[in-house]
Amino acid sequence: AAGMLWGGRFTGGIDPLMHKYNASIGYDKALYKEDILGSIAFARANSKTGIITEDEFQTIERGLLQVMEEWKQGTFAIMPNDEDIHTANERRLGEVIGKDTAGKLHTGRSRNEQVVCDMRMWLRDRIKEIDSQLVAFLKVVIARAESEISLLTDNLSDYLMPGYTHSQRAQPVRWAHWLMAHAAAFKQDLERLRQVFERVNLSPLGCGALAGNVFQIDRHAIAKELGFSGITLNSMNTSADRDFIIEFLTWNSIFTNHISRWAEDLIVYGTSEFGFVRLADAYSTGSSLMPNKKNSDSLELLRGKSGRAFGQMAGLMMTMKGLPYCYAKDSQESWEPMLDSVEFVMDSLGIANGVVATLTVRPERMRAALDMTMLATDVAEWLVKKGVPFREAHHISGRIVALSENTEVSMDQLTLEQLQEIDSRFTADIADAFKYESSVEAKSAPGGTSRSAVLGQIEALRAILE
Ligand code: ARG
Repeated sequence: AAGMLWGGRFTGGIDPLMHKYNASIGYDKALYKEDILGSIAFARANSKTGIITEDEFQTIERGLLQVMEEWKQGTFAIMPNDEDIHTANERRLGEVIGKDTAGKLHTGRSRNEQVVCDMRMWLRDRIKEIDSQLVAFLKVVIARAESEISLLTDNLSDYLMPGYTHSQRAQPVRWAHWLMAHAAAFKQDLERLRQVFERVNLSPLGCGALAGNVFQIDRHAIAKELGFSGITLNSMNTSADRDFIIEFLTWNSIFTNHISRWAEDLIVYGTSEFGFVRLADAYSTGSSLMPNKKNSDSLELLRGKSGRAFGQMAGLMMTMKGLPYCYAKDSQESWEPMLDSVEFVMDSLGIANGVVATLTVRPERMRAALDMTMLATDVAEWLVKKGVPFREAHHISGRIVALSENTEVSMDQLTLEQLQEIDSRFTADIADAFKYESSVEAKSAPGGTSRSAVLGQIEALRAILE
């Protein structure tokens, strides 16, 4: 342990398993760039207060840029005593520019603020990438919704399908409306992600280990250099908390939850029994035994990731829950879920994008799944327009459904006489209520499934994607 960066007070060696258990270099090396940029900004700020000279700063900067180059080239050699990315970079800086000057880099600084700085920089940049991937995905979704809203005015029925509640056919909706239903969930996720970004993108540097910085360091200047939009409020909270990661993991739990339900719908719609959609070969796999199988593994994995996302969120929440202020090594457990969740959510977005871009839609199968009883509400609404109180109208319409079921005659094929036997107020224009197109077009209030209402949703969503 005497050989470690912090080894001054130690005389005994560290147990080899303890060294492995303690070390984070295996994964935190992914943030070498953030670590180096943070160090340069910190050293520059130290040179402004005069605690290091301008010359020393320039030497440090030059050395750090060389270390960064080594990482980029893949020539950086991790040494047995390199515990984490911070100590590895500083150790190497010492070899490049000499220990005396390199030893001044950490003046007034703690790894507790450094680690938070690296993670905040890295995560906010990844959030930006996830944001653009989500935008790209939503653009594909709305392009499909727009082109499949049924632009053929003489054939409005093209892309109508059953909407379900309790997994039972409920009311006819546009296929484009189903697309926009899930897009609406993802829109909320996009907005939430942008809010998470604001809280992640705050600079911790200048907080020290927990108590603050003694050298009048300019925290705002550091924040500006590193692209942060502000600084964290309190030094103790800064080193103690990983809420910015938990918040991202929470976001990911909600988002993957939405993706999972979207995937579940498509899995069901893709079964032979439904046959509304067909998944492209590029996103399907076969069976090692059954030659006939084409499985929707892409969608199943998308659905499956939600469990992992929730586990990561719950796991880190539990890790942080009882930690005494300020820093404790437990916090290091925030790294792996952060790195993993970012990687798989980006992959998921790429897969979801490809799935929806290549999906075959089968409007004839959607159409075939509609049945006239799904217009029972429309019949009740027809009666309401004739002045019948809704509760009574509901009851009358229910009797028509029962008659249709008992006689096995589709509701629209019942004679006017049969209908009038149930209620004398029925007139010939009840025939209008037995059209899927009119049913859908009647839902024209904002958010509904009429052509204009769906187009309205597309426009509203497009506005936040530009
Ligand atoms: N690898 C550590 C972490 O992620 C860095 C911070 C170390 N700080 C400390 N006081 N040991 O938490």
